[in-house]
Order: sequence, then C-alpha cells, then structure tokens
Amino acid sequence: MDKRPIGIFDSGIGGLTVANAIRKKLPNESLVYFGDTAHMPYGDKSPELIRHYSARIAHYLMTFNCKMIVIACNTASSHAYSTVAAVVGPDIPVVNVIDPVVDYVVKHHNKDKVGVIGTKGTIESRVYPRRIQKADKSIKVASLATPLLAPMIEEGFVNNMISRTVIHSYLDKTALRGIDALILGCTHYPLIRKEVASYYKNPVEILDSTLLVAEEVEQLLTEKAMLNDASSSSHRFMVSDYTEAFEKSTRLFFKEKLELTESRIWDNRSLG
Ligand code: DGL
Repeated sequence: MDKRPIGIFDSGIGGLTVANAIRKKLPNESLVYFGDTAHMPYGDKSPELIRHYSARIAHYLMTFNCKMIVIACNTASSHAYSTVAAVVGPDIPVVNVIDPVVDYVVKHHNKDKVGVIGTKGTIESRVYPRRIQKADKSIKVASLATPLLAPMIEEGFVNNMISRTVIHSYLDKTALRGIDALILGCTHYPLIRKEVASYYKNPVEILDSTLLVAEEVEQLLTEKAMLNDASSSSHRFMVSDYTEAFEKSTRLFFKEKLELTESRIWDNRSLG
C-alpha cells in the first residue's frame, strides 16, 4: 500500500484529460497536477526551454513526495523525458504520453499507414515516426503539425462550425491521405476526437493517449507494488498563473469544474 500521490504535469490544463483517465482507472490514487499556464503553449518553444521548464516542475512535484511522474504533454514528453527521469532519480517511474501509443500502434498496425497530428514541437521532434519505425519499419508514418487546434479547444471551440472548418482543413492535407489510423498527438485533442472521427468515411482508428497512459500507470504501479489499496484519495490542482478562464475551462478537460490553486514557482512574488 503506497499512499504517495502521482505527480502529473502539462503546459496548461490540456493534460487534465490524462489526469481524468487516471482517476477513473485508479480511483484510490491521489493526484498532484501542475499546469504551467505561465508558459503555455509549449508547442512553439525550443527543446532547451521545455527541458528547463520540465526539470523545475519535476523538482517541484517531488516536494509533494510523488511516487510516480506522468508527463501529460506530448511536447514535453518529446523533449524532456530523460531530463525529468534524471531529476526524479531511478526509484520514481516516469510515464510519458508517447510510448504507450507507439506500443499500441506497433502491435495493431503492421504494414499500415498511420498519421500523427500535434504541436509544432512534437511534430518537428519526429518522435513518433522515429519510435514507431524503430520498432516496425513496415509502418508508414505521416506527420502534420496542427498548431491551431490546442488554442482553439482551450477557447471552447469544439463541436461547432469553426472547429469543424479548422479540423477539416487540416485533415484534408495530402500528407494524411489514405491513413489507417490517426494518432491525436496532443493531450488537448481527446476533446475533438468525435469530430475527427466523423471526418473519415472509411474506417480510420483514432488513437488518443489518455486510456493507454492510464493503463500503463496501472501496470507499472502494480508491477512495483506501489498501488494504493485504500480509498483515501485526495487531489490537488495547481497552475503557475491563475486566471478565472483557466478554472472555467477545467470542466472541459476534467468533466467537472476544479478549484485551481496558483503556485508561482517561477518567481518570488509569493513562493507556492
Ligand atoms: N498539451 C500540449 C501537448 O500535448 C499542447 C499544448 C501546448 O502547446 O502547450 O503537446
């Protein structure tokens, strides 16, 4: 029985889709979530800066005595996985949102063409094609940066004419023609999963990382005998820059409105 919380972070509140999947799968586990709203979006930042931010956040999460860290952001997972692992040390497992999806694709899409959409940072890192093709050269990977999607979703533009137009104009691109599966390579995108699926007339499997990551978390905690058996969970949700708009948007990503507390880890206005 291990009552320590699971630390989860993202550039902002999009990673709450992952936190939500984890709390559903593992209701006994306590979560400490940190959204770096002071620096979002990460998708346009340099790999060095993302590593710098992620290292500081991992450090901060460890002050809550976390037993595991989940990087609930594709951009940070692409650039900062090893940095975070080095900060937390070998006894704390680190889960990223990319590997569980890559493993799934390798298992189920041999010889297929798989598309991946995500932020500029994620797509330019080529992390998905590199990891998929390292495991199975027969899988073709077509990548497309879709930088308008995360801000669009955060502003609440989902299931309407605007989101439909933006989504369709990206999915119409020639690079994505003839795909058998599409990876939603950003933790904001589960919110537009249905709209993406409805674009396709042929069967195209739409893959988001939330469920696969929650399963990976469960598997790792089970293997390491780190699960919390008692129902004593309590959660904490923090952001580096609080606004009411962020708090309101939590409902979109977590399916209920959350109370966000501000933790100013980047300056000394008042250290959280
Ligand atoms: N949630 C981030 C990701 O999964 C995208 C948002 C951002 O650019 O910060 O990559």
